[in-house]
Amino acid sequence: MSDDSLASRRIQYETHGLDVADLDPDPIAQWRRWYDEAVQAGCVEPNAFVLSTVDATGQPQSRYVLARSADHRGFTFYTNYQSDKSVQLAGGGPVALLFSWLQLHRQVRILGVAEGHVPDAESDEYHRSRPRPSQIGAWASPQSTPIPDRAALEQRVAQFTATFEHVEEIPRPAYWGGWLIRPTQFEFWQGRPSRLHDRLRYQGDGGSWAIGRLAP
Ligand SMILES: Cc1cc2nc3c(=O)[nH]c(=O)nc-3n(C[C@H](O)[C@H](O)[C@H](O)COP(=O)(O)O)c2cc1C
Repeated sequence: MSDDSLASRRIQYETHGLDVADLDPDPIAQWRRWYDEAVQAGCVEPNAFVLSTVDATGQPQSRYVLARSADHRGFTFYTNYQSDKSVQLAGGGPVALLFSWLQLHRQVRILGVAEGHVPDAESDEYHRSRPRPSQIGAWASPQSTPIPDRAALEQRVAQFTATFEHVEEIPRPAYWGGWLIRPTQFEFWQGRPSRLHDRLRYQGDGGSWAIGRLAP
């Protein structure tokens, strides 16, 4: 049975189109252009993306994380290295990233591989930039493992807060840091009227990128 309120929802996408001539030859530079426009448009959590990985049984798993850098190496984000996602990334397996800026009727679909942990010095620097309660949270949360109740988590937070009470600079836990994702393919999707959307895909061959158009 369809839900009428969902089935009848239909928004016309009136935004201007996207052509190959509009694109930066470097997909990261193009991503940055769209990211900046998402920030200017006031999109919620513009650096959030859905990270999809595959577990040992072949089951895909998706969750949001926050991009913390995007440059010639790829995208970085930070997490617990013992979490489910980290276990799934550890084999260097395939990953998919999805940025959605729905206010602008845009999505960027990215395929890539987990290149590995970012260098320790880079994780240390990012850890140092975080608010103290977030640093304590990284110590306190055994991410992805079952816990009996909320109180158990709060108890661990209290315990680590006490541990670090007289420590000026809380160290980074060895089990927490950044991952680097190296992209191998990008698709920039721009919503257009009558569902005749623009889809432009970059495919990498290690050095350069070939750009092509896909049917919507
Ligand atoms: C908007 C948003 C941003 C998030 N950012 C992060 C992040 O940067 N790092 C992280 O470990 N979890 C982040 N989370 C939580 C994850 O989605 C997820 O619940 C958690 O990392 C555990 O995932 P896993 O068990 O698959 O490893 C975020 C959630 C949301 C909704």
